[in-house]
Amino acid sequence: MALTGKRILLIISGGIAAYKSFDLIRRLRERGASVRPIMTRAAQEFVTPLAVGALSASHVYVDLFSREDEQDVGHIRLARENDLVVVAPASADLMAKMAHGLADDLASAVLLATDRPVLIAPAMNPKMWAAPATRRNAETLKADGIHFIGPMAGEMAESNEAGIGRMAEPLEIVAAVERLLDGTAKPLAGKTAIVTSGPTHEPIDPVRYIANRSSGRQGHAIAAALARLGADVTLISGPVTIPDPSGVKAVHVERAEEMLDAVLSRLPADIAVMVAAVADWRVASSAEQKIKKRPGEVPPPLQLAENPDILKTVGHHDRRPKLVVGFAAETQDIEKNGRAKLERKGADMIVANDVSPETGIMGGSRNRVKIISAHGIDEWPDLGKDEVAERLAQLIAERLTGA
Ligand code: C5P
Repeated sequence: MALTGKRILLIISGGIAAYKSFDLIRRLRERGASVRPIMTRAAQEFVTPLAVGALSASHVYVDLFSREDEQDVGHIRLARENDLVVVAPASADLMAKMAHGLADDLASAVLLATDRPVLIAPAMNPKMWAAPATRRNAETLKADGIHFIGPMAGEMAESNEAGIGRMAEPLEIVAAVERLLDGTAKPLAGKTAIVTSGPTHEPIDPVRYIANRSSGRQGHAIAAALARLGADVTLISGPVTIPDPSGVKAVHVERAEEMLDAVLSRLPADIAVMVAAVADWRVASSAEQKIKKRPGEVPPPLQLAENPDILKTVGHHDRRPKLVVGFAAETQDIEKNGRAKLERKGADMIVANDVSPETGIMGGSRNRVKIISAHGIDEWPDLGKDEVAERLAQLIAERLTGA
């Protein structure tokens, strides 16, 4: 496991994002790290030491003047007996204290006393992040060698405000932890990957189009997960409303034919993951001008032409990537259709899922998939799309590098 034996001191400060520390602790421990938590007084207003203690299987340190804790480890040992100090969420207040060397509670005293690398994941209202004082503090901390992950752009949990201030997601923090602690946690370093994502839009005329339903969430998450494992990722996306993930080269296309060209122009590559919901047909000759609706006239017929099958083209290409992964969104006979697709498309792996409307998978944030390959069928539980992406990236790394 990537973080086996690593000791992480996790400082949780106050903010809505404190609830994400549960997931962060779980994911760090999953990778073999031990987590020792410190909570500020404000953090305890958002999450309880009891829950943090249970998840980390550790004593939770909260008080600078605790006689028991000081006898047990003491704040100087807390500061030193670890491989990395992670502050998540890092509030504007705690950043200010760090920047000025204040040490009036356990968290700030430990941060002042530590000689270990420190990674902070700031989380705050966008106005607080943009405030001149926070800007100055962030600059000071960077100059002091403090590592940053985020904050990210997005919606704030507590208000309808959007902007920069959202805490990085736990998996992004874990990836930053791995980068800092372990260069070998990059099994795909030096490998190139092409990922397609989202729908394609096939124009009928300049204002109308045919498309499949697809949010692009799963494909984008896979591109990001491969990049976190060190791959050089090109994400070729149809029209979506979600942002490009960080750490990938994004190429935006509209039509299936454009998507195919974009994919082929990036061969050779080590990995291809074709997640896009490509429209099977395009309009044979789309109109140059908007087709007018005229009262009393019969609606215009649409003559369709078949689109190229991108996965199949790549799967049988003479510069075929070493590992080709396709998706099979089905509403029935999932395994049978998945196996047939593996063969027909020349893929090494098919990620099959049931997209019947009642599953809520399409456009949703969760997914339940079966991995079909020459190794057999592996059924994964109901997972978040990020988690499916993470697991798939790990599996790709294993199959590709034999690790
Ligand atoms: O044949 P079907 O559309 O069910 O196959 C789904 C898989 O094939 C997905 O991986 C999808 O990205 C890919 N595909 C493609 N080009 C098409 C149709 C599907 O790359 N024209």
